[in-house]
Amino acid sequence: MSGLRTPLTRRAFLAGSAAAGLALVPGCGAPAPAAAPALRLRPAAMTLDLAGTPARTWGYGTVPGPEIRLRAGEVLRVQVDNALPEDTTVHWHGLAPPNAMDGVPGVTQRPVRPGEEFLYEFPATVPGSFMYHSHVGMQLDRGLYGPLVVEPRDEPLAYDREYVLMLDDWADGLADHTSHRGGGRPPPPPVDPRDVVSFGGRTYPALLVNGRPPQDPAVLEGRPGDRLRLRVMNVAADTGFRFAVAGHRLTVTHTDGMPVEPVAVDTVRLGMGERCDVLVQLDRSGGAWQVAAQPEGRPGLGRAVLRYTGSPVSTAPPPDARPAELDGRLVGYDELLAVDPLPLPAGGPDRVFDLTLEGTEISGQSYPDADPLPVVEGQRVRLTMRNTGAKWHPMHLHGHHFQVLTASGRGPVKDTVAVPAHGGEVTIDFLATNPGRWLFHCHNHHHMEDGMVRLVEYR
Ligand code: C2O
Ligand code: CU
Repeated sequence: MSGLRTPLTRRAFLAGSAAAGLALVPGCGAPAPAAAPALRLRPAAMTLDLAGTPARTWGYGTVPGPEIRLRAGEVLRVQVDNALPEDTTVHWHGLAPPNAMDGVPGVTQRPVRPGEEFLYEFPATVPGSFMYHSHVGMQLDRGLYGPLVVEPRDEPLAYDREYVLMLDDWADGLADHTSHRGGGRPPPPPVDPRDVVSFGGRTYPALLVNGRPPQDPAVLEGRPGDRLRLRVMNVAADTGFRFAVAGHRLTVTHTDGMPVEPVAVDTVRLGMGERCDVLVQLDRSGGAWQVAAQPEGRPGLGRAVLRYTGSPVSTAPPPDARPAELDGRLVGYDELLAVDPLPLPAGGPDRVFDLTLEGTEISGQSYPDADPLPVVEGQRVRLTMRNTGAKWHPMHLHGHHFQVLTASGRGPVKDTVAVPAHGGEVTIDFLATNPGRWLFHCHNHHHMEDGMVRLVEYR
């Protein structure tokens, strides 16, 4: 190990983010203890440059939006100024805020109308790799998303540099949806017959990594001997990804921001809404290497490039070069061990919900015409999910972390879990410690819009 870890200081970050469009908002009211200065997010129409092709879309100034980074225990204060022609909200994916700050329109708050402002404010207690995104219709699919990193007070991992990589699918047919008011739902692209093994059923012409198409990749840098930390986040609406770095192994350290016993793999798989932190030891002498995000069950490749300092980017592999690591060792949830399992009371669950996932229905019901899942504060709650359909469903629970039940008894602690197609089963347990009405839904945004949602309701 050489050198320092991430050279970015907090002060440098704040200065940088102001330049990137996150402005400081003058303080209001009594100062909260350890409050981070309020940041401003301004969802608005914008043009995204896709390797020279301008795409009109919506975003928070850039796609992805500006990185929000704070330390565990600090107060997240973000003011949203809605410059869109329709309602919006911001959801803090993976965090467990008080219910009123969760950003679900019509459930936890009145949506933020065009021209209105809304202040989100709550303590970010748990460190990890999270995301923020709009929770209105398909706004996330247009680019209204960004990374949110909560650093621990004392970082237990040693690494030299870190990068956030947000994997996205991009439909250029959506380019004119700024003129499409109110609907929020793009016309469905043609169904790909290969979708029986995919997460979704659509074809996306472009796969973006940090908002960049394969022809114009983001470049990660490091020196021989460095250790990189990559926070990989799948923010796609409809695409599960396999992720790998050509010529390098990955050490998985966190899933959905929560630590697991480190495990060496060649590739990781991420359903929509899932995140994974990996360490990459730069044990080559140089060169430029493909960083690949391959859609599950579909053609195409999203990419970035890992460049050893001093090696020309021009030596990078062609955009469609597919690293062999994508076919290498992959671990399932069964093989992951939580470092900090949830303190689930012994003696089994107090409440069990057996759910069937079929098509885009949950046990034959489609939200909003769907029964809430009632829980009581303090209960240990179990959700079993059986997927009888032909598509994967990454199921996401708001406001809580859950434990995936595996044979080890120490399955990973997560907030999003992919339930495999054709009879796949997953069971999760969580502690009902955060009163309110919380969404539990498929993070395929098309499925969510089709009603693949239930409310977990404290009674
Ligand atoms: Cu990432 Cu209900 O959302
Ligand atoms: Cu789904």
